[in-house]
Amino acid sequence: MVAEAIVGQLRAEGHDAEIFSFRDLESPPSQGDFLFVGSPIRMGKVTKKARKFMERMDVEAWKGKPIVTFVTMLPPPGPEADAKKRESYEKWDIKAAQQIREAARAMGLNALESVLMAHVKGLKGPLADDGLEKSRQFTHDFIATLNSPSVNPGVGVV
Ligand SMILES: Cc1cc2nc3c(=O)[nH]c(=O)nc-3n(C[C@H](O)[C@H](O)[C@H](O)COP(=O)(O)O)c2cc1C
Repeated sequence: MVAEAIVGQLRAEGHDAEIFSFRDLESPPSQGDFLFVGSPIRMGKVTKKARKFMERMDVEAWKGKPIVTFVTMLPPPGPEADAKKRESYEKWDIKAAQQIREAARAMGLNALESVLMAHVKGLKGPLADDGLEKSRQFTHDFIATLNSPSVNPGVGVV
């Protein structure tokens, strides 16, 4: 759903875009001007498929090109939550949300600082009411950085 919203927005703004599922890919794509990679967060981590995908990325092919990362996850604990819950969210869930970005950076890839975190309403979904709109807006903001690279120094040839 989030991937579809991203691709829909990319197409609406004039980009060619394709969706792949990790399970259908023999190896990560090596062609494109930028790549969005996303995963659900489970037990404080992105999925194994997502981690394997990153390990197999063709670094030469993607060097300098923007890698944009996104996750679906539970929302942050509300004001009624105790300090321990809030700490745990920061320590595990936010860290997990940055895991694909960090894996990309560790490989020398140009991962965008900003991670799209689309929230779900419960452990079994569905996406929060603002999830699709948030995904489209995030994608729109990313496209704007392509058009004026100086706005976001994280995007550009390194
Ligand atoms: C077994 C299990 C563990 C989960 N663990 C976490 C978690 O640690 N942190 C979190 O934010 N969400 C967690 N979730 C919520 C998932 O992130 C959410 O269900 C998922 O993003 C929905 O995407 P999907 O339909 O593609 O699985 C968990 C969900 C399940 C079923």
